[in-house]
Amino acid sequence: MKVRKAVFPVAGLGTRSLPATKAIPKEMLPVVDKPLIQYAVEEAKAAGCEQFIFVTGRGKTALEDHFDHAYELEATLERRGKTRELEALKAWLPREGQVVYTRQQEPLGLGHAVLCARDIVGDEPFAVLLPDDIVLSKTPCLQQLTAAHDRTGGSVVAVMDVPRDQTNRYGILQPGGVDGSLTEILGLVEKPDPAVAPSTLSIIGRYVLSAEIWPFLEERKKGAGGEIQLTDAMARLVGRVPFHGLRFEGRRFDCGERLGFLEANVAFGLSRADTGGPLAGIIQNLLPKAAQ
Ligand code: G1P
Repeated sequence: MKVRKAVFPVAGLGTRSLPATKAIPKEMLPVVDKPLIQYAVEEAKAAGCEQFIFVTGRGKTALEDHFDHAYELEATLERRGKTRELEALKAWLPREGQVVYTRQQEPLGLGHAVLCARDIVGDEPFAVLLPDDIVLSKTPCLQQLTAAHDRTGGSVVAVMDVPRDQTNRYGILQPGGVDGSLTEILGLVEKPDPAVAPSTLSIIGRYVLSAEIWPFLEERKKGAGGEIQLTDAMARLVGRVPFHGLRFEGRRFDCGERLGFLEANVAFGLSRADTGGPLAGIIQNLLPKAAQ
């Protein structure tokens, strides 16, 4: 079955990015000139998703406004003859009714955030995208996952190797058989201590999950950090549905973290035709002579 629905957990407070996120949602932070959430929605769209489900919270109305018409702005652009800017704005707006908002009423963890979308998703496979993570790649990361899912069915998550001393920041795989870029998942642990981590293969914020996950999320069991963890519910899928980690092609940036966010801006800026050349020159000039 095709993946038609994408869930975006966007209720988090963004405390790691303060003061930038005091009055705006962290998902509205721009990489070059586009908010993180727009990268995630465009990626889901490119992968064939038709419904975009935001699990949101208080203080996040800027996200809703971003995916709506801005009449004053559009009328002004029209009056000033700025047709190109106007068309560009309208081009990525989802069709009416394609975006759905629900609220996570309590900050009980990522598993709980996904559970909030249960009635909207229903009994079909669905994608989850964490907008903090953005991936620079030839083929959008979620599209790589849905292509793998077309072959394997079940659940597929995007994975990459991390330094062993960082396993306590991620969901970590107990890997089984390897078939090209796919690794069978035999177990999962959320944020294990490096000394006991079953591997260094970590999940990044892109998932295709089968509907079999709902009963396990429903149990609302608390895990690492006292939170209801998505990883714990996913671990229960092992042996019940085909379950694979996909070593995706591309480079992932953790924009929930200062340096990751800066790195993403530089990498995306360098990758774009309009900014790449000039930005490379600017960076060159900024670097101390010895580093050049
Ligand atoms: C979440 C997940 C974790 C995953 C990570 C990817 O953690 O719980 O399994 O590896 O996203 O970014 P968080 O970053 O919310 O602590």
